[in-house]
Amino acid sequence: KHVAVLMGGLSSERPVSLRSGEACADALEADGFDVSRVDVDRSVAETLAKLKPDVAFNALHGPYGEDGRIQGILEYLQIPYTHSGVTASALAMNKLLAKTVAKTAGVPVAKGRVMKRNDLALKHPMSPPYVIKPIAEGSSFGVLIVREEQAHPPQSLSSSDWAYGDDLLIEQFVHGRELTCAVMGDVALDVCEITTEGHAFYDYDSKYSDGGSVHIVPADIPGDIARKIQEWSLLAHRAIGCRGVTRSDFRYDDRFGKDGEIAWLEVNTQPGMTPVSLVPDIAAHSGHSFTELVRWMVEDASC
Ligand code: DAL
Ligand code: MG
Repeated sequence: KHVAVLMGGLSSERPVSLRSGEACADALEADGFDVSRVDVDRSVAETLAKLKPDVAFNALHGPYGEDGRIQGILEYLQIPYTHSGVTASALAMNKLLAKTVAKTAGVPVAKGRVMKRNDLALKHPMSPPYVIKPIAEGSSFGVLIVREEQAHPPQSLSSSDWAYGDDLLIEQFVHGRELTCAVMGDVALDVCEITTEGHAFYDYDSKYSDGGSVHIVPADIPGDIARKIQEWSLLAHRAIGCRGVTRSDFRYDDRFGKDGEIAWLEVNTQPGMTPVSLVPDIAAHSGHSFTELVRWMVEDASC
């Protein structure tokens, strides 16, 4: 089988995608696939029309690669591709739309609303602590946590260097632990806890620097909480119409007892596949080696 691994692309997460793509391309090659590495730019349609791969392995992250746009091109070209389709990708990439659909399906989400960057620059939109997130970014780009003691929203929001768009999601900050759960087809895998000593939260640095975070699989949480997280991950995956592998991120506040508060934050339709990413560790714990995981994705591809 000839597999074109799509990587790089046009988003802020380009460097992450190059790492995901290389890792997947290496694994597929070692597994006997005929692999073409495609560094995605604006001529990707032409490149793919010429290459005519049997499958496109989508290792892109962020806008253009994870939001339905590349998926639309692949549909036009009738090239089967890995991960979610056009509509699910577009829905999941927009954090407000994704939360609305997940909430309707019965998944608990943090309170929040959308605001324009300029309307937020001077006055708190809700009492701190709250989180400011670009509506459609990944890898924590542009995420700011506003703490109780801060008198104003962060200065960087009014800067002309702000690169993450004018639509922001403002969410009540949920204290506590960072949990994540991967879904592979129809099955929710084990829940993973992420700890990030020395970092304020699981930010870009802690995500991608060696030793920046520790992944604990399975998370040391009560069994009923783990089952709820798995159930909600699968529910969100299905309600949004996702395909293949996704990863849902949660926060779990257990400071006041084990039942605590759980908030689903988002579903990632193109979860990271770098050597320090979560899904490969979670899959490994369920007995799927990296090679098997990537092969499964290729076999699951469709259009
Ligand atoms: N957006 C990054 C790649 C992730 O979700 O893993
Ligand atoms: Mg994300």
